[in-house]
Amino acid sequence: MAAVHSPPAGDWWRDAVIYQVYPRSFADGDGDGTGDLAGVRARLPYLAELGVDAVWFTPWYVSPLVDGGYDVADYRIVDPAFGTLAEAEKLIAEAREFGIRTIVDIVPNHVSDQHAWFRAALEAGPGSPERELFHFRPGRGERGELPPNNWPSQFSGRTWTRVPDGEWYLHLFTPEQPDLNWAHPAVRQEHEDVLRFWFERGVAGVRIDSAALLAKDPALADFEEGVDPHPYIDQDELHDIYRSWRAIADEYGAVFVGEVWLPDAERFARYLRPDELHTAFNFNFLTCPWHPGRLRQTIDDTLAEHAPVGAPATWVLCNHDVTRTVTRYGRADTGFDFATKTFGTPTDLALGTRRARAAALLTLALPGSVYLYQGEELGLPEADIPLDRIQDPMHVRSGGTDPGRDGCRVPLPWTADAPHAGFGALTEPWLPQPGDWPSYAVDRQSTDPGSMLALYRRALGLRRSSDGFGDGPMTWLPATDGVLAFARTHGLICVVNLSDRPAAVPAHQELLLASGPLDDEGRLPRDTAVWLRA
Ligand code: GLC
Repeated sequence: MAAVHSPPAGDWWRDAVIYQVYPRSFADGDGDGTGDLAGVRARLPYLAELGVDAVWFTPWYVSPLVDGGYDVADYRIVDPAFGTLAEAEKLIAEAREFGIRTIVDIVPNHVSDQHAWFRAALEAGPGSPERELFHFRPGRGERGELPPNNWPSQFSGRTWTRVPDGEWYLHLFTPEQPDLNWAHPAVRQEHEDVLRFWFERGVAGVRIDSAALLAKDPALADFEEGVDPHPYIDQDELHDIYRSWRAIADEYGAVFVGEVWLPDAERFARYLRPDELHTAFNFNFLTCPWHPGRLRQTIDDTLAEHAPVGAPATWVLCNHDVTRTVTRYGRADTGFDFATKTFGTPTDLALGTRRARAAALLTLALPGSVYLYQGEELGLPEADIPLDRIQDPMHVRSGGTDPGRDGCRVPLPWTADAPHAGFGALTEPWLPQPGDWPSYAVDRQSTDPGSMLALYRRALGLRRSSDGFGDGPMTWLPATDGVLAFARTHGLICVVNLSDRPAAVPAHQELLLASGPLDDEGRLPRDTAVWLRA
């Protein structure tokens, strides 16, 4: 094992709370039914009051929105639906005035089929230098009628599409998202320029989309189940790419968070070596069921895998790709798996909400940084979207069997009594809001001390103002079966009861916060958590 790397103290990202804004659904400033930068700017006071340290924006660049903006046509232009580059610059500066840093999203694995490079590649034809920026190949079969290999898609369906001149091109996601050829120096150069472009505009960090997929087996050999290495996941070449990115980020004091879905802890940690990415999303925590033993194991594994490389852990329960937390925790299967999503899963929202409240205190007390997805602080459930309104390609490409991800992307409710729950005044939002959306509105929750929003505000406030939270050591405390109890420094203790009966609360000087009321005997009810000061 490598020596433990000690980073300089006081790096904000080591224990930040980072709020994910999905701009299309956050707040609609111009009233056209789509969220925008004007909407975000108007709501900066809300984010400051909530107490977040940074905001990660999912892509706001010009895009045909085939995959919700993860099909980027030009990184240097903000999509007119969201605003302008000048407005993005204002937003970055204004957020900073509120003490909030900005993280933008870069999607290096692929571009939109409307990107100038891909259009030029189609035009230039087989054998051209333009095509070398992508993975164009002749097909197999007598007349090239079969795709060049058998690679499985990240979404349903094929990974290859044939163009009129007979060649095929690779796309791990939709046909509208052609994969770039990362063996080509121009691809590397362009992304380094794009990083500088945004760092120059004052962004404090970059989220790297599909970070483990960029490099491909040069032979594009067929995928064989169980044979390592996988031809396009976690190829060794990636580390060289991220080392050169890190050098650029270091010039600006900026940081990376990688979207790295890799169950293998040792392989995952390689991305977090001191000269590579600062952080990566902890998807093992996100997918973990609400189960005491499984959670404890995941927490231990997370800390153990991060320690040798000196990187802080991140704690994530939700994002724009997964079932919302209160819904997931209210189901028989409380884990998350893309492969098992179905329509009509029975859900007990009251139970899920109780657990999500407890999970919030658990998450915010763990060592490292925390990601919070817009609406999580409101306890929004996954919405049922009428079939004819679902836009997500994951649904469309599954032939309609996968519900897709739109249920977690519904425009936020701000004001209970305003049209469209205050999301935007004029037009019907781009995704329909469920009938009970006003009951989750920010204004309503702001005056209710028992609301999810009130819990998050208090928890984030305490996490920021009191000792013991964030980066640093944690120690498990003895506890009865099904109860997770751990100590941080300065006497801070977190106890979460995942058993089926009330649990004793350890001796303490002060009860800082509880996710729900204690029972008459001062015990911690099931699916409830507390923060204590011993
Ligand atoms: C990432 C994004 C997801 C997108 C995919 C393709 O997983 O989070 O929303 O569909 O990459 O870019």
